[in-house]
Amino acid sequence: MLSYKEHKALKDRFETQLRVAMNKTDFMTGWLPKSATPGASAEHFAPSNIALCKYWGKRDTELNLPVNGSLSVSLDHLGSRTRVEPIDGETDSVWLNGTQQRPDSRFAKRVSAFIDLFRIYHPEQAFRVTTENNIPTAAGLASSASGFAALTKAMNDAFKLELSDTELSVMARMGSGSACRSLFDGFVEWQMGVREDGMDSYALPLEQCWPGLCVGLIHVDENEKSVDSRAGMQRTKETAHLYQSWPMQAAADLSKLQQAIAERDFALLGSVAEQNALSMHATMIASWPPLLYWQPDSVAAMQKIWKLRAEGLALYFTMDAGPNLKLLFEDASRGAVEAQFPGLEVVQPFGI
Ligand code: PMV
Repeated sequence: MLSYKEHKALKDRFETQLRVAMNKTDFMTGWLPKSATPGASAEHFAPSNIALCKYWGKRDTELNLPVNGSLSVSLDHLGSRTRVEPIDGETDSVWLNGTQQRPDSRFAKRVSAFIDLFRIYHPEQAFRVTTENNIPTAAGLASSASGFAALTKAMNDAFKLELSDTELSVMARMGSGSACRSLFDGFVEWQMGVREDGMDSYALPLEQCWPGLCVGLIHVDENEKSVDSRAGMQRTKETAHLYQSWPMQAAADLSKLQQAIAERDFALLGSVAEQNALSMHATMIASWPPLLYWQPDSVAAMQKIWKLRAEGLALYFTMDAGPNLKLLFEDASRGAVEAQFPGLEVVQPFGI
Protein backbone atom coordinates (compact mmCIF):
# COMPACT_ATOMS: atom_id res chain seq x y z
CA MET A 1 0.00 0.00 0.00
CA LEU A 2 1.20 3.50 -0.79
CA SER A 3 1.30 5.74 2.25
CA TYR A 4 -0.84 8.88 2.18
CA LYS A 5 2.32 10.95 1.63
CA GLU A 6 3.46 8.80 -1.29
CA HIS A 7 -0.01 8.91 -2.81
CA LYS A 8 -0.15 12.68 -2.48
CA ALA A 9 3.30 13.01 -4.07
CA LEU A 10 2.12 10.82 -6.94
CA LYS A 11 -0.98 12.95 -7.44
CA ASP A 12 1.02 16.19 -7.35
CA ARG A 13 3.41 14.81 -9.96
CA PHE A 14 0.44 13.79 -12.08
CA GLU A 15 -1.14 17.22 -11.91
CA THR A 16 2.12 19.07 -12.55
CA GLN A 17 2.98 16.95 -15.54
CA LEU A 18 -0.46 17.28 -17.02
CA ARG A 19 -0.09 21.01 -17.12
CA VAL A 20 2.85 20.70 -19.49
CA ALA A 21 2.48 17.41 -21.35
CA MET A 22 -0.02 16.69 -24.08
CA ASN A 23 1.70 13.62 -25.41
CA LYS A 24 0.72 10.19 -24.13
CA THR A 25 4.21 9.00 -23.27
CA ASP A 26 5.22 12.25 -21.57
CA PHE A 27 1.93 12.14 -19.75
CA MET A 28 2.69 8.69 -18.36
CA THR A 29 6.31 9.44 -17.52
CA GLY A 30 5.25 12.37 -15.42
CA TRP A 31 2.30 10.75 -13.78
CA LEU A 32 3.32 7.30 -12.68
CA PRO A 33 5.84 6.72 -9.88
CA LYS A 34 9.44 6.66 -11.03
CA SER A 35 9.80 3.03 -10.05
CA ALA A 36 7.37 0.23 -9.51
CA THR A 37 7.42 -3.39 -8.53
CA PRO A 38 8.52 -5.44 -11.55
CA GLY A 39 5.63 -6.88 -13.45
CA ALA A 40 3.69 -9.71 -11.85
CA SER A 41 0.84 -11.67 -13.40
CA ALA A 42 -2.61 -10.22 -12.96
CA GLU A 43 -6.12 -10.84 -14.24
CA HIS A 44 -9.29 -8.75 -14.31
CA PHE A 45 -12.80 -8.63 -15.74
CA ALA A 46 -14.53 -5.50 -17.02
CA PRO A 47 -18.06 -5.25 -18.41
CA SER A 48 -18.98 -4.06 -21.85
CA ASN A 49 -21.08 -0.91 -21.91
CA ILE A 50 -23.81 0.40 -24.16
CA ALA A 51 -23.98 4.16 -24.58
CA LEU A 52 -27.44 5.74 -24.35
CA CYS A 53 -25.85 9.08 -25.26
CA LYS A 54 -22.93 8.32 -27.58
CA TYR A 55 -19.34 9.47 -27.56
CA TRP A 56 -18.73 10.48 -31.15
CA GLY A 57 -15.76 12.68 -32.07
CA LYS A 58 -12.55 13.65 -30.34
CA ARG A 59 -11.30 17.12 -29.55
CA ASP A 60 -7.84 15.60 -28.96
CA THR A 61 -6.88 12.41 -30.78
CA GLU A 62 -3.67 11.83 -28.80
CA LEU A 63 -5.31 11.76 -25.37
CA ASN A 64 -8.75 10.56 -26.57
CA LEU A 65 -10.60 13.60 -25.29
CA PRO A 66 -14.22 13.72 -26.45
CA VAL A 67 -16.18 16.50 -28.09
CA ASN A 68 -19.19 15.62 -25.92
CA GLY A 69 -20.11 13.93 -22.67
CA SER A 70 -21.71 10.49 -22.84
CA LEU A 71 -23.76 8.16 -20.68
CA SER A 72 -23.85 4.37 -20.72
CA VAL A 73 -25.11 1.33 -18.96
CA SER A 74 -22.70 -1.53 -18.25
CA LEU A 75 -23.65 -5.03 -19.29
CA ASP A 76 -23.08 -6.87 -16.03
CA HIS A 77 -21.52 -10.27 -16.86
CA LEU A 78 -20.90 -9.57 -20.57
CA GLY A 79 -17.43 -8.24 -21.15
CA SER A 80 -13.73 -9.11 -21.22
CA ARG A 81 -11.46 -11.06 -18.92
CA THR A 82 -7.84 -10.11 -19.47
CA ARG A 83 -4.71 -11.68 -18.04
CA VAL A 84 -1.22 -10.20 -18.28
CA GLU A 85 1.95 -12.19 -17.61
CA PRO A 86 5.55 -10.97 -17.94
CA ILE A 87 7.42 -13.12 -20.48
CA ASP A 88 10.96 -13.43 -21.85
CA GLY A 89 11.43 -12.19 -25.39
CA GLU A 90 11.19 -8.95 -27.30
CA THR A 91 7.59 -8.81 -28.38
CA ASP A 92 4.28 -9.13 -26.61
CA SER A 93 2.29 -12.24 -27.26
CA VAL A 94 -1.33 -11.21 -27.68
CA TRP A 95 -4.15 -13.74 -27.54
CA LEU A 96 -7.81 -13.10 -28.22
CA ASN A 97 -10.45 -15.73 -27.56
CA GLY A 98 -7.88 -18.53 -27.68
CA THR A 99 -6.12 -17.41 -30.88
CA GLN A 100 -2.70 -15.79 -30.97
CA GLN A 101 -2.86 -12.51 -32.88
CA ARG A 102 -0.19 -11.62 -35.43
CA PRO A 103 2.08 -8.91 -33.98
CA ASP A 104 1.24 -6.68 -36.97
CA SER A 105 -2.53 -7.12 -36.56
CA ARG A 106 -4.58 -4.06 -35.61
CA PHE A 107 -5.59 -5.64 -32.32
CA ALA A 108 -2.08 -6.67 -31.22
CA LYS A 109 -0.64 -3.28 -32.21
CA ARG A 110 -3.25 -1.41 -30.15
CA VAL A 111 -2.67 -3.65 -27.13
CA SER A 112 1.12 -3.31 -27.32
CA ALA A 113 0.94 0.47 -27.81
CA PHE A 114 -1.21 0.69 -24.69
CA ILE A 115 1.17 -1.50 -22.66
CA ASP A 116 4.01 0.80 -23.81
CA LEU A 117 2.45 3.47 -21.62
CA PHE A 118 3.18 1.30 -18.57
CA ARG A 119 6.49 0.04 -19.92
CA ILE A 120 8.32 3.14 -18.75
CA TYR A 121 9.39 1.04 -15.78
CA HIS A 122 10.83 -1.85 -17.71
CA PRO A 123 11.14 -0.84 -21.37
CA GLU A 124 12.35 -4.32 -22.34
CA GLN A 125 9.63 -6.24 -20.55
CA ALA A 126 7.30 -8.13 -22.87
CA PHE A 127 3.93 -9.49 -21.77
CA ARG A 128 1.64 -12.25 -22.74
CA VAL A 129 -1.84 -10.75 -22.85
CA THR A 130 -4.78 -13.11 -22.95
CA THR A 131 -8.26 -11.68 -23.49
CA GLU A 132 -11.45 -13.68 -23.50
CA ASN A 133 -14.55 -11.81 -24.64
CA ASN A 134 -17.96 -13.27 -24.10
CA ILE A 135 -19.32 -10.73 -26.57
CA PRO A 136 -18.62 -10.56 -30.31
CA THR A 137 -15.39 -8.67 -30.97
CA ALA A 138 -15.55 -5.50 -33.11
CA ALA A 139 -19.17 -6.01 -34.14
CA GLY A 140 -20.40 -2.80 -32.58
CA LEU A 141 -20.77 -4.38 -29.17
CA ALA A 142 -17.99 -2.27 -27.69
CA SER A 143 -15.59 -5.09 -26.83
CA SER A 144 -12.68 -2.66 -27.09
CA ALA A 145 -14.19 -0.79 -24.14
CA SER A 146 -14.28 -3.82 -21.84
CA GLY A 147 -10.94 -5.07 -23.20
CA PHE A 148 -9.03 -1.88 -22.45
CA ALA A 149 -10.75 -1.44 -19.10
CA ALA A 150 -9.80 -4.99 -18.06
CA LEU A 151 -6.25 -4.49 -19.40
CA THR A 152 -5.90 -1.23 -17.46
CA LYS A 153 -6.93 -2.92 -14.23
CA ALA A 154 -4.58 -5.85 -14.90
CA MET A 155 -1.58 -3.58 -15.64
CA ASN A 156 -2.36 -1.57 -12.51
CA ASP A 157 -2.10 -4.77 -10.47
CA ALA A 158 0.86 -6.15 -12.42
CA PHE A 159 2.92 -3.10 -11.43
CA LYS A 160 1.18 -2.62 -8.06
CA LEU A 161 0.40 0.98 -8.98
CA GLU A 162 -2.68 1.25 -6.77
CA LEU A 163 -4.33 3.86 -8.94
CA SER A 164 -7.75 5.14 -7.88
CA ASP A 165 -10.87 4.40 -9.95
CA THR A 166 -10.71 7.91 -11.41
CA GLU A 167 -7.07 7.45 -12.39
CA LEU A 168 -7.85 4.06 -13.89
CA SER A 169 -10.65 5.69 -15.89
CA VAL A 170 -8.22 8.32 -17.22
CA MET A 171 -5.78 5.56 -18.18
CA ALA A 172 -8.40 3.35 -19.83
CA ARG A 173 -9.63 6.35 -21.82
CA MET A 174 -6.26 6.48 -23.55
CA GLY A 175 -6.64 2.89 -24.74
CA SER A 176 -10.15 3.41 -26.09
CA GLY A 177 -12.39 6.37 -25.21
CA SER A 178 -15.43 4.35 -24.21
CA ALA A 179 -13.22 2.10 -22.02
CA CYS A 180 -13.21 4.81 -19.36
CA ARG A 181 -16.90 3.95 -18.74
CA SER A 182 -16.28 0.19 -18.51
CA LEU A 183 -14.47 0.60 -15.20
CA PHE A 184 -17.88 0.78 -13.50
CA ASP A 185 -21.15 -1.12 -13.27
CA GLY A 186 -24.62 0.32 -13.79
CA PHE A 187 -25.23 3.75 -15.28
CA VAL A 188 -22.00 5.60 -15.97
CA GLU A 189 -21.39 9.14 -17.18
CA TRP A 190 -18.21 10.17 -18.92
CA GLN A 191 -17.83 13.84 -18.22
CA MET A 192 -16.14 15.37 -21.23
CA GLY A 193 -14.08 17.84 -19.23
CA VAL A 194 -12.72 21.08 -20.60
CA ARG A 195 -9.06 20.96 -19.73
CA GLU A 196 -6.55 20.49 -22.51
CA ASP A 197 -4.67 17.95 -20.44
CA GLY A 198 -7.77 15.78 -19.97
CA MET A 199 -7.45 15.71 -16.18
CA ASP A 200 -11.19 16.27 -15.84
CA SER A 201 -12.23 13.84 -18.58
CA TYR A 202 -13.13 10.57 -16.90
CA ALA A 203 -16.16 8.47 -16.07
CA LEU A 204 -18.17 8.32 -12.87
CA PRO A 205 -20.85 5.83 -11.86
CA LEU A 206 -24.32 7.26 -11.29
CA GLU A 207 -25.96 6.49 -7.97
CA GLN A 208 -29.30 5.49 -9.44
CA CYS A 209 -30.20 1.99 -10.49
CA TRP A 210 -33.13 0.69 -12.52
CA PRO A 211 -34.23 -2.83 -11.59
CA GLY A 212 -36.08 -4.41 -14.48
CA LEU A 213 -34.32 -2.45 -17.20
CA CYS A 214 -33.44 -4.82 -20.07
CA VAL A 215 -30.90 -4.60 -22.88
CA GLY A 216 -31.46 -7.11 -25.70
CA LEU A 217 -28.68 -7.85 -28.16
CA ILE A 218 -29.61 -8.55 -31.76
CA HIS A 219 -26.77 -10.18 -33.66
CA VAL A 220 -27.12 -9.01 -37.27
CA ASP A 221 -23.49 -9.58 -38.19
CA GLU A 222 -20.51 -10.48 -36.03
CA ASN A 223 -17.77 -9.92 -38.60
CA GLU A 224 -15.13 -7.34 -37.89
CA LYS A 225 -16.12 -4.03 -39.41
CA SER A 226 -13.87 -2.42 -42.00
CA VAL A 227 -13.89 1.10 -40.50
CA ASP A 228 -13.47 1.09 -36.72
CA SER A 229 -15.00 3.71 -34.42
CA ARG A 230 -11.74 5.60 -34.11
CA ALA A 231 -11.43 6.10 -37.89
CA GLY A 232 -15.19 6.53 -38.30
CA MET A 233 -15.56 9.38 -35.83
CA GLN A 234 -12.51 11.13 -37.25
CA ARG A 235 -13.89 10.94 -40.78
CA THR A 236 -17.27 12.25 -39.61
CA LYS A 237 -15.75 15.13 -37.71
CA GLU A 238 -13.57 16.14 -40.65
CA THR A 239 -16.04 15.78 -43.50
CA ALA A 240 -19.67 16.00 -42.33
CA HIS A 241 -21.15 19.49 -42.05
CA LEU A 242 -23.99 17.88 -40.17
CA TYR A 243 -21.53 17.05 -37.39
CA GLN A 244 -21.66 20.68 -36.27
CA SER A 245 -25.02 20.08 -34.66
CA TRP A 246 -23.88 16.92 -32.84
CA PRO A 247 -22.35 18.48 -29.68
CA MET A 248 -25.60 20.38 -29.02
CA GLN A 249 -27.73 17.31 -29.59
CA ALA A 250 -25.53 15.24 -27.29
CA ALA A 251 -25.56 17.84 -24.51
CA ALA A 252 -29.36 18.09 -24.62
CA ASP A 253 -29.73 14.29 -24.71
CA LEU A 254 -27.37 13.83 -21.79
CA SER A 255 -29.45 16.02 -19.51
CA LYS A 256 -32.72 14.42 -20.68
CA LEU A 257 -31.25 10.99 -19.89
CA GLN A 258 -30.22 12.13 -16.42
CA GLN A 259 -33.81 13.26 -15.90
CA ALA A 260 -35.22 9.99 -17.30
CA ILE A 261 -33.02 7.97 -14.93
CA ALA A 262 -33.84 10.13 -11.91
CA GLU A 263 -37.59 9.87 -12.62
CA ARG A 264 -37.50 6.30 -13.98
CA ASP A 265 -39.30 7.54 -17.07
CA PHE A 266 -38.77 4.69 -19.53
CA ALA A 267 -40.44 6.36 -22.54
CA LEU A 268 -38.09 9.32 -22.11
CA LEU A 269 -35.02 7.09 -21.68
CA GLY A 270 -35.85 4.95 -24.71
CA SER A 271 -36.83 7.79 -27.04
CA VAL A 272 -33.78 9.90 -26.19
CA ALA A 273 -31.41 6.94 -26.58
CA GLU A 274 -32.92 5.97 -29.93
CA GLN A 275 -32.88 9.51 -31.31
CA ASN A 276 -29.34 10.02 -30.07
CA ALA A 277 -28.14 6.87 -31.86
CA LEU A 278 -29.92 7.78 -35.09
CA SER A 279 -28.53 11.32 -34.95
CA MET A 280 -25.02 9.89 -34.62
CA HIS A 281 -25.66 7.61 -37.59
CA ALA A 282 -27.01 10.58 -39.57
CA THR A 283 -23.67 12.35 -39.13
CA MET A 284 -21.86 9.20 -40.30
CA ILE A 285 -23.98 8.89 -43.42
CA ALA A 286 -23.38 12.58 -44.14
CA SER A 287 -19.59 12.14 -44.10
CA TRP A 288 -17.40 11.51 -47.11
CA PRO A 289 -16.79 8.80 -48.19
CA PRO A 290 -20.13 7.92 -46.58
CA LEU A 291 -20.17 5.63 -43.58
CA LEU A 292 -23.15 3.34 -43.36
CA TYR A 293 -22.80 0.54 -40.84
CA TRP A 294 -26.37 -0.64 -41.34
CA GLN A 295 -27.22 -3.81 -43.20
CA PRO A 296 -30.62 -4.73 -44.63
CA ASP A 297 -31.34 -6.77 -41.49
CA SER A 298 -30.54 -3.76 -39.29
CA VAL A 299 -33.14 -1.67 -41.14
CA ALA A 300 -35.66 -4.52 -41.04
CA ALA A 301 -35.22 -4.72 -37.26
CA MET A 302 -35.71 -0.93 -36.91
CA GLN A 303 -38.93 -1.08 -38.90
CA LYS A 304 -40.17 -3.98 -36.85
CA ILE A 305 -39.46 -2.07 -33.63
CA TRP A 306 -41.30 1.04 -34.91
CA LYS A 307 -44.29 -1.10 -35.89
CA LEU A 308 -44.38 -2.88 -32.51
CA ARG A 309 -44.11 0.45 -30.74
CA ALA A 310 -46.99 1.87 -32.77
CA GLU A 311 -48.98 -1.17 -31.61
CA GLY A 312 -48.25 -0.29 -27.97
CA LEU A 313 -45.07 -2.19 -27.03
CA ALA A 314 -42.64 0.00 -25.07
CA LEU A 315 -39.57 -0.98 -27.07
CA TYR A 316 -36.69 1.22 -28.27
CA PHE A 317 -33.24 0.60 -29.67
CA THR A 318 -29.75 2.00 -29.82
CA MET A 319 -26.83 1.18 -32.13
CA ASP A 320 -23.11 1.81 -32.08
CA ALA A 321 -20.71 1.91 -35.02
CA GLY A 322 -21.85 -1.43 -36.37
CA PRO A 323 -24.91 -3.20 -37.79
CA ASN A 324 -26.17 -4.70 -34.51
CA LEU A 325 -29.11 -3.25 -32.63
CA LYS A 326 -29.43 -3.18 -28.86
CA LEU A 327 -33.04 -3.26 -27.72
CA LEU A 328 -34.18 -1.29 -24.68
CA PHE A 329 -37.25 -2.43 -22.77
CA GLU A 330 -38.47 -3.21 -19.27
CA ASP A 331 -38.94 -6.54 -17.58
CA ALA A 332 -42.73 -6.31 -17.90
CA SER A 333 -42.37 -6.43 -21.71
CA ARG A 334 -39.68 -9.13 -21.78
CA GLY A 335 -41.98 -11.98 -22.80
CA ALA A 336 -43.53 -9.98 -25.64
CA VAL A 337 -40.12 -8.82 -26.89
CA GLU A 338 -38.58 -12.30 -26.77
CA ALA A 339 -41.56 -13.67 -28.68
CA GLN A 340 -40.87 -11.17 -31.46
CA PHE A 341 -37.08 -11.66 -31.48
CA PRO A 342 -36.38 -15.36 -30.90
CA GLY A 343 -32.87 -16.09 -29.62
CA LEU A 344 -32.46 -12.56 -28.27
CA GLU A 345 -29.69 -12.30 -25.66
CA VAL A 346 -31.12 -10.28 -22.77
CA VAL A 347 -29.10 -8.58 -20.02
CA GLN A 348 -30.66 -6.99 -16.93
CA PRO A 349 -27.88 -4.75 -15.67
CA PHE A 350 -29.64 -4.07 -12.34
CA GLY A 351 -31.40 -7.40 -11.88
CA ILE A 352 -35.17 -7.78 -11.72
O1 PMV B 1 -14.20 3.96 -27.63
P1 PMV B 1 -14.28 3.81 -29.11
O2 PMV B 1 -13.14 4.52 -29.77
O3 PMV B 1 -14.41 2.37 -29.51
O4 PMV B 1 -15.63 4.56 -29.59
C1 PMV B 1 -16.91 4.15 -29.22
C2 PMV B 1 -17.94 4.85 -30.05
C3 PMV B 1 -19.37 4.35 -29.92
O5 PMV B 1 -19.41 3.01 -29.49
C4 PMV B 1 -20.04 4.44 -31.28
C5 PMV B 1 -20.18 5.22 -28.96
C6 PMV B 1 -19.94 5.03 -27.48
O6 PMV B 1 -20.11 6.00 -26.75
O7 PMV B 1 -19.66 3.90 -27.04
